[in-house]
Parts: sequence; C-alpha cells; structure tokens
Amino acid sequence: MHPSSFPSKFWFLLIVLSFFLNFSPNCVFANSFMSCRVRTSCGSISYIGYPFWGWDRPESCGYPGFQLNCNQNMLEITIMSATYRVLEINNSTQTLVVARTDYSDSLCPTRFINSTFDTSPFRYNETTRDIRLYYDCPSPAGLENLTSFQDVSDQFECTINGASTRGYYVTTDFTGTAIGNFFGFCWNSVIIPVPISRVPLLVDNRDSDALEEAVRVGFGLRWSANDSRCNTCLNDGGQCGRNLNSNEFACYNCTDGDVCSTSSPAGKSSLFFMPGEISLVGFVDMEFPPFQFQFQFRVRHGCSLFGVRPNKLRVGRS
Ligand SMILES: *[C@@H]1O[C@H](CO)[C@@H](O)[C@H](O)[C@H]1NC(C)=O
Ligand SMILES: *[C@@H]1O[C@H](CO)[C@@H](O)[C@H](O)[C@H]1NC(C)=O
Ligand SMILES: *[C@@H]1O[C@H](CO)[C@@H](O)[C@H](O)[C@H]1NC(C)=O
Ligand SMILES: *[C@@H]1O[C@H](CO)[C@@H](O)[C@H](O)[C@H]1NC(C)=O
Ligand SMILES: *[C@@H]1O[C@H](CO)[C@@H](O)[C@H](O)[C@H]1NC(C)=O
Ligand SMILES: *[C@@H]1O[C@H](CO)[C@@H](O)[C@H](O)[C@H]1NC(C)=O
Ligand SMILES: *[C@@H]1O[C@H](CO)[C@@H](O)[C@H](O)[C@H]1NC(C)=O
Repeated sequence: MHPSSFPSKFWFLLIVLSFFLNFSPNCVFANSFMSCRVRTSCGSISYIGYPFWGWDRPESCGYPGFQLNCNQNMLEITIMSATYRVLEINNSTQTLVVARTDYSDSLCPTRFINSTFDTSPFRYNETTRDIRLYYDCPSPAGLENLTSFQDVSDQFECTINGASTRGYYVTTDFTGTAIGNFFGFCWNSVIIPVPISRVPLLVDNRDSDALEEAVRVGFGLRWSANDSRCNTCLNDGGQCGRNLNSNEFACYNCTDGDVCSTSSPAGKSSLFFMPGEISLVGFVDMEFPPFQFQFQFRVRHGCSLFGVRPNKLRVGRS
C-alpha cells in the first residue's frame, strides 16, 4: 500500500476522464460491433439500421445497394442510377416507400432515367404500377383524337436541347396498337412507378400536376438481405453487417479486448471519441485501500475510439 501516492493517482484519473468527456462523439467507431450498433436518422426517419449504411454507418454495416444519403434532411437512395427520396422504412416488414426525386416538380427531367430494379435487392410491392412517359413526340397527325383515349394523358411541353417539345404519359401498355406505333416515333421514353391507388386520378385528370402528385406520394418496395440471419444475430446480442472481403453476411459481437458497452444506447456514457492519428493502449491501476481499481483504456488510430472500462474491481488487500 502506498498512501502517499494516492492523491496524485486520484487526480490523474479525474484528468483523464474529463479529457475524454470533452470530445464530441461525431465520429465513426473503430470497432464493427460499435459502429454497426449505430441507428442513424435523417429528417423524420429514425432507427435506420441494417441492411442500410451511409454517413455515420460504415459500409461494413450493410449490403451493397443499401447506401443512403442524408441530403438537406431528406433521406435519399440511388437504385440503378435513379435517385429516390426515402419516405418510410419499415424494418419488420422489410419495406420502404420511395419517390423519384427528379419528377416531383416537373415532368421534364434533365437526364432521362428509367426506374429499374432487376439487379438491385429491391422489388415492387403489390401496390406499385409503372407509368410510361414519352418525350419529343411527333405531331399526332392521323391520330387527332389521341388524347381522347382513356389511358393517354394530355400533351405536356418540355424544352429539350433548346426546343419546345411534346410529351405524353400513358397508364396502360399500348404495344402493338396504332397508338403504340405512334409513341415509337417519340425521341425518348421513361418508366416511373406510382402507387396503384393514384392511377384512377391520372386517368381522370391526365395532366402534369396529377402525375407529379402521384410521384411525390411515393411507391412501395420490398428488400431482401439475409434479414432472418440478422434477426437471429440481434437476438443473440450481436450487430449485423457484411464482411467486405467475402461479401458474406457478418454478425459482429463484442469480442474480448474490444471496448464495448451493452448498457448505454449511444455509447456516450462509456465511450469517448477523438479524430486523430494516435494509437495507444494502457491502463490506470489505483489503490484506495481497501479497494484496488484498474481501468483499461484504448485509443485507436485514425477516427479513434477512446474508451475506459473498469477492467477489475477488487475489494481487499492485494
Ligand atoms: C428496427 O426498427 C426499430 C424501431 O422501429 C429499432 O428499434 C431497431 O433497432 C431497428 N432494427 C434494425 C436492425 O435496424
Ligand atoms: C411496420 O409494419 C408493421 C406491419 O404493417 C406495423 O405494425 C408497424 O407499425 C410498422 N413499423 C413502423 C416503424 O412503421
Ligand atoms: C426505358 O425503358 C424502355 C423499355 O425498356 C426503353 O424503350 C427506353 O429507351 C428506356 N429509357 C431510357 C431513358 O433508358
Ligand atoms: C380515334 O380515331 C381513330 C381513327 O383515326 C378511330 O379508329 C378510333 O375509333 C378513334 N378513337 C376514339 C376513342 O375516338
Ligand atoms: C406497399 O407500398 C405502399 C406505398 O405505396 C404502402 O402504403 C403499403 O403499406 C405497402 N404494402 C405492404 C404490404 O407493405
Ligand atoms: C444471404 O447470404 C448468403 C450467404 O452469405 C448469400 O449467398 C445470399 O446471396 C444472401 N442473400 C441475400 C438475399 O442477400
Ligand atoms: C463472437 O464472435 C466470435 C467470432 O466471430 C465467435 O467465435 C463467438 O462465439 C461469438 N461470441 C458470442 C457471445 O456470440
């Protein structure tokens, strides 16, 4: 026992702790369990977890194709080159509601991109329907009554390459008909999904406003990404992710030697972070007779992880 060294060690510990407490935890964790335990939020959507990743969830916490972006408080996802606003995520039904970002204010996009999902992990849910838009169409000579067909919209104008052009949207497939042949002469076409519930309004109103509104409310998608394995992993106290080398599903747990906390949700009370380029592992051993405390702390390289945990708490004389 060293009664004379007690005060200096006691103060040393306090200094170390206050040093930790001053860092803002705006940083990616160095440990997969801790980084994938983060449930992120953007705008009105919160508790975003596996299989999604992006900004404060590293790539190893999700699957390819599930990268999200928080753009001015709007959650966005890019699926096969088309960008969508994410309006809802439900991780128990594995569904989301998304809306094309480029069609919410105008039917004249700057780039013509089809909504396609075939090589993505997403599929339409049962309430989603495709609408086809045609751009820069010829004069409907010989089809003067074109827009009297129930499923053809009124024409809308778009400026393409500096010229004012004629466009239409259709709510049914006209392949093989005279109308289908006519649309074949349009310069470009785009497929965008809308919820089926909006189709009657499109048929009745036929104008750009009706379609912009139908696009804004968003349509349903389902995803699949080994979600049942993830649920098993979560039930076992792990966190879900992906091994970036093998591309296999990964269940991260808190392995010995990692600084993890199972009690505090955001890790704030037991973990402290600092961006930096330091790597240090050590411990503080203290004796307050009749107690002896030993704290272990780790400082990680790069976007560092600072942590302190009571490694041993022994009562009695050593
Ligand atoms: C699923 O969402 C719930 C809240 O709706 C949240 O508590 C939970 O952490 C989420 N799970 C994952 C794996 O993201
Ligand atoms: C997810 O969907 C289920 C079933 O439709 C529903 O009961 C639950 O409230 C939804 N969860 C969220 C977070 O919207
Ligand atoms: C969209 O898909 C349709 C049908 O596959 C195709 O004819 C059209 O050229 C595509 N449009 C774009 C912009 O890729
Ligand atoms: C539109 O005109 C075509 C001939 O150009 C005619 O065959 C067709 O019945 C007309 N459709 C309607 C809905 O008036
Ligand atoms: C399908 O998507 C729509 C959004 O367009 C949503 O309201 C609906 O709940 C979804 N259905 C299922 C079964 O998830
Ligand atoms: C689930 O994981 C297995 C093995 O890791 C993989 O082969 C499979 O493609 C995954 N399924 C989905 C839908 O991601
Ligand atoms: C943690 O993961 C390791 C390796 O992935 C595994 O061997 C171990 O059994 C896991 N421990 C728990 C408690 O799940």
